[in-house]
Amino acid sequence: MFSITNSVGMFGMNAFPVNVETEIFKGHPQFDISGLPDVGVKESRDRVKSAVSSLGIAFPKGRVLINLAPANVKKSGSAYDVALFVSLMQAMGVLKLSTSDKVFVGELGLHGRIRSVKGAMSMTMLARKNGFQEIYVPKENAKEASVVENIRVYGVSSVEDLMLHLVGRIILSSEPHYEPKMAQFEGMLDFCDVRGQFKARRGMELAAAGGHNVLLVGSPGSGKSMLANRLPTILPPMTKEEILETSNIYSIAGALSSENPLISARPFRSPHHTISSAGLVGGGSIPIPGEVSLAHNGILFLDELAEFHRSTLEVLRQPLESGKVVISRVSGSAEYPCNFMLVAAMNPCPCGYYGSPQKKCTCTEKQIRQYLSRISGPLLDRFDMHIDIDPIPYEDLSTKEKPESSETIRERVKNARNRQAERYAGMGFYDNANIPDHFLDKFCQMTPDAEELFGKLYMFYHMSARTGIRIKKMARSAADLHGHEKINSEDISMAVQFRGFNSKYLQ
Ligand SMILES: Nc1ncnc2c1ncn2[C@@H]1O[C@H](COP(=O)(O)OP(=O)(O)OP(=O)(O)O)[C@@H](O)[C@H]1O
Ligand SMILES: [Mg+2]
Ligand SMILES: [Zn+2]
Repeated sequence: MFSITNSVGMFGMNAFPVNVETEIFKGHPQFDISGLPDVGVKESRDRVKSAVSSLGIAFPKGRVLINLAPANVKKSGSAYDVALFVSLMQAMGVLKLSTSDKVFVGELGLHGRIRSVKGAMSMTMLARKNGFQEIYVPKENAKEASVVENIRVYGVSSVEDLMLHLVGRIILSSEPHYEPKMAQFEGMLDFCDVRGQFKARRGMELAAAGGHNVLLVGSPGSGKSMLANRLPTILPPMTKEEILETSNIYSIAGALSSENPLISARPFRSPHHTISSAGLVGGGSIPIPGEVSLAHNGILFLDELAEFHRSTLEVLRQPLESGKVVISRVSGSAEYPCNFMLVAAMNPCPCGYYGSPQKKCTCTEKQIRQYLSRISGPLLDRFDMHIDIDPIPYEDLSTKEKPESSETIRERVKNARNRQAERYAGMGFYDNANIPDHFLDKFCQMTPDAEELFGKLYMFYHMSARTGIRIKKMARSAADLHGHEKINSEDISMAVQFRGFNSKYLQ
């Protein structure tokens, strides 16, 4: 007998339809899978056999051939298992109904259990796009799949339930549509914990307002990690599109669960400095997203930047430039988006106290140079802002005055972001940090006072053209925070504080 049913394959972010065709021939018992299956798919045979026997059904005596079409695309992983099983049940005549309007994805475990798969959200989107009425996914993936509208999603936990439902002996209810909710970053952290540090606080606000990458430099205990950890609390909530985009990446990475079906607060990823290049940007024979993509629409925080291997950091340059990662493999190339704010923290020297008013630095000039050279110029260049953080003086730490809360700062940031969204609507970029250079004159207009001040500072500090560009972009963010149509001299002064040329260390 011959049968056919439907499944979905994944490569990177791309889901593609797969037809599963089964034919049982008379003859020697044999079980083959064709259609460019990899080792993982070939192992499906054992899992399918075990699932069949878990139902107390005898495996067919003859030769079973299952073909995965289209035959020219490599198939990998275990997500086809359930479709293979359903197709076999049809070919055996156990299941008589047509499944032409249904899609099946899921990995089979022993004793007929159905286990979760990666990418269920993308798979469901494709099924809907291709006009299918129903998709059967593992129970654990049902919630993330149910974000997709206009398709019935069934979460199943065993082949027994699946079969009973398909033959009409029980009725499983479909998963109700799950509507992404815009959530604010929730947690214990708040900017009201950060005493003093007025300049650094303003700097973080400016970074948040314009999406600028920021490098925090200061001695141990000066509060770098504390400031960085609180950045998500002053960013505006994610939009629905952002939630879906980011959640989709987590779905593909297998990082969603039924308790946590969507990423609805901006991600804050803080990989350890021992991470590999592949861990950072993604990799593997079946490419999976790395930290940069898991930070999509959020923040990637590299604490102790100088401790990272230089070669690990180098791989960040291209993703930072293009907002996406492309991983090439013989079987094709996978592309993952990665629009994130890069925040990094480091000490100014190996002992940590260069330039500190607190304690004397014990490093030689050569040691300092060596230490700083661990971070390449081109990478340093990706940071619009450098914030020097001095240890907080005692009177600031002991003051009774409550510092401003994250909520108050966030309101200003939101307003600044709204101005940018309006100004850049339909232009393909969203924030001041990403204004293409050829648009600078159009979007960074200055008042005559500001022009004059900028010109003076440019000459005084012997700025490079690139530094000038950075300052204009930051000044645009300052103007958006302050509600100025044109950049004025106050905005220029604010921006100038956060450039490396007046940094004590990074000459
Ligand atoms: N401005 C501040 N207001 C209140 N507490 C502070 C402030 N700065 C630092 N602290 C306290 O000091 C601790 C150490 O700060 P943090 O870990 O952020 O320093 P760091 O600069 O990251 O140091 P390291 O270089 O060692 O990583 C914080 O947990 C916090 O309790
Ligand atoms: Mg720290
Ligand atoms: Zn030192």
